[in-house]
Amino acid sequence: MTHDRSRPLLAGNWKMHQTLAEARALASAVAAASRELAGADIILAPPFTALAEVRRALAGSPVGLAGQNLFWEEKGAFTGEVSAPLLKDAGCSHVIIGHSERRQHFGETDASVRKKIKSALQAGLVPIVCVGESLGEREAGRTMDVIAGQLEGGLDGLDADEAGRIVLAYEPVWAIGTGRTASPDQAEEVHGFIRGRLEESYGGELSSCAIILYGGSVKAANTCSLFKEKDIDGALVGGASLEPGSFIEIVREAIKGRKERQ
Ligand code: 13P
Repeated sequence: MTHDRSRPLLAGNWKMHQTLAEARALASAVAAASRELAGADIILAPPFTALAEVRRALAGSPVGLAGQNLFWEEKGAFTGEVSAPLLKDAGCSHVIIGHSERRQHFGETDASVRKKIKSALQAGLVPIVCVGESLGEREAGRTMDVIAGQLEGGLDGLDADEAGRIVLAYEPVWAIGTGRTASPDQAEEVHGFIRGRLEESYGGELSSCAIILYGGSVKAANTCSLFKEKDIDGALVGGASLEPGSFIEIVREAIKGRKERQ
């Protein structure tokens, strides 16, 4: 699945939720709705245990499948880990890398993010690479420094071809699961900054095509205004992606916001 900025990209990050029965019902509802939501690209990221179930439910629909994480080695004695080739084999087109919850709770660093991006690209997966500042960092006026550091550290050593195949996600930590969304202006400011950094590193052609998602308490009520911003190309949705009605409404609002922007 390759992306084009004219179509909003909506990814549902289910985190550590959904039994097989719940996953099947949710993915089936999204697959059924995807026919009338053809103006957007949609991806679901279930827990590893539900990948096969969700793949079956999505069969024949345009909805993509993503892993929530991977380990960078191809195979071997790494108990509990899942590699890029295994995700690809399970039907994934995408993989989330460097989510703030992984950075916070599981010691993920920019160096591990870099290795994970490389292995994902090598396996033909689209990495969705997350960056974002904490509340303390924002309040200390360090947002752009933090984002710049995460981009520099995470993307270091990627050539333009590799960088052109990744999707970025700006997820301010203070907005995740808190009900406190970044305002469209706050999000746009950081998205514009990210695009500017990509331009400095890889040139205008790449940066103008780069897909940058926003994540953090995205709900149907705030989606349209976010998608009117010129540098917001999609959303990474957590809590509101666990219920088919709210996720489908978010996709509709994203398509609407995008139309109003053009
Ligand atoms: P919420 O939408 O629940 O705030 O989660 C955002 C997120 O972390 C998506 O990856």
